[in-house]
Amino acid sequence: MKVLIIGSGGREHAMAWKIAQSPLVSKIYCAPGNGGTKMEEKCENVDLRTIEELIVFAKKEKIKFTIVGPEVPLVEGIVDEFKKNDLKIFGPSKKAAALEGSKSFAKSFMKKYGIKTAEYQTFDNADKALEYLKICTYPTVIKADGLAAGKGVVICHNEEEARNAVQEIMIKDIFEGAGIKIVIEEFLEGVEASILSITDGKTIIPFISSKDHKQIFDGDKGPNTGGMGVITPNFYCTEEVLEEFNKDILEPTLVGIREENMDYVGTIFFGIMITKKGVYLLEYNVRMGDPETQAVLSIMESDYVDLILNALDGKLKNYNIKWKNAHACCVTAVSKGYPGKYESGYEIKGIENTNCKVFIAGAEEKQGNLVTSGGRVLNVVALGNSLEEARKRAYNEIEKITFEGIYYRKDIGLRSDKNNL
Ligand code: AMP
Ligand code: GLY
Repeated sequence: MKVLIIGSGGREHAMAWKIAQSPLVSKIYCAPGNGGTKMEEKCENVDLRTIEELIVFAKKEKIKFTIVGPEVPLVEGIVDEFKKNDLKIFGPSKKAAALEGSKSFAKSFMKKYGIKTAEYQTFDNADKALEYLKICTYPTVIKADGLAAGKGVVICHNEEEARNAVQEIMIKDIFEGAGIKIVIEEFLEGVEASILSITDGKTIIPFISSKDHKQIFDGDKGPNTGGMGVITPNFYCTEEVLEEFNKDILEPTLVGIREENMDYVGTIFFGIMITKKGVYLLEYNVRMGDPETQAVLSIMESDYVDLILNALDGKLKNYNIKWKNAHACCVTAVSKGYPGKYESGYEIKGIENTNCKVFIAGAEEKQGNLVTSGGRVLNVVALGNSLEEARKRAYNEIEKITFEGIYYRKDIGLRSDKNNL
């Protein structure tokens, strides 16, 4: 069968690599893909950008199913459009994708179904928001309602910072429409975990837990990025934590999905905060995480295609996902300047000398060479019998890779003091 993957990051390269391992699949098209998917077995990049172009292509090539990497097309309703054309697609409907596309919608859903989450207020009027800042407790968390490429959340330590955030988001409209509404939320103290999972709308099966590292610098310092590295499993996700997560978050989420008649066959990604008061849901994402996917799919033993086909057929109930008895460590190398302005166009050398999988994110192939083209450039993923072994290997291998201005964190997978519960 032929599969179409939409997206162009490290996440999509990891999906293509994993899907290519399935004996069920003969051909994978990546739209638009990147320098890594271009070289992957069974894969071909296709330069299709609009939903209309993708639909025409999927029909013409008799694509068995399409899988969507990033959130933007999902929130725009690509799944509904494919279904109108009788095309199989793995992802939530537009209505369900609002769980990521609108923070106020997600929070009201969480409240309605008793999902454990931070207290919050929603504002669509800047004066009222500014008034509220006089009486709220600090630190407080201000979130743009809509999609803001992971930059829409500001933690404010006092009223002045909070007033600035409201000014920027609501009045200056720096997120171009995403901040017409905001959510102001109780600050939670704890450690975070990413729980990717798969749903057919009737069952949700959580994947192995993982831990992202969002800030640019070691010790969780500096501005937030899309993600600088991941380990799986997440050492904070003990059995008790996962039990609480199931009871307080996963199960009531499933009830909500059913009650609201959301057409949801796809990935659901829970961003959780483990606190002294229990496990809280920070956010839903309706797609796989990047770089969580690179680590998590690396230790998935099961056939990802078979799993997705079972979800599309509504048969997840008794599906048993198998995981390698291993730890994975993914270290992300970025261009100098990221997450701010960065330069690109530099040749990447040394990948052929590595002894582990390298997933390409922002790099393209030019005359047989890989050349940087994005902020996050590549991800090195190493496995080990222990976290320590996986970390050591990942750092050993990434040292073999060079490009002008290469930067990566040196502390992926280390417990930092701040993170001690
Ligand atoms: P979100 O997009 O909602 O996951 O927020 C992005 C990041 O902001 C999270 O990964 C957390 O690090 C932080 N964050 C979000 N909400 C809260 C909260 N209520 N308390 C503390 N930190 C938060
Ligand atoms: N790495 C976090 C995300 O994909 O949202």
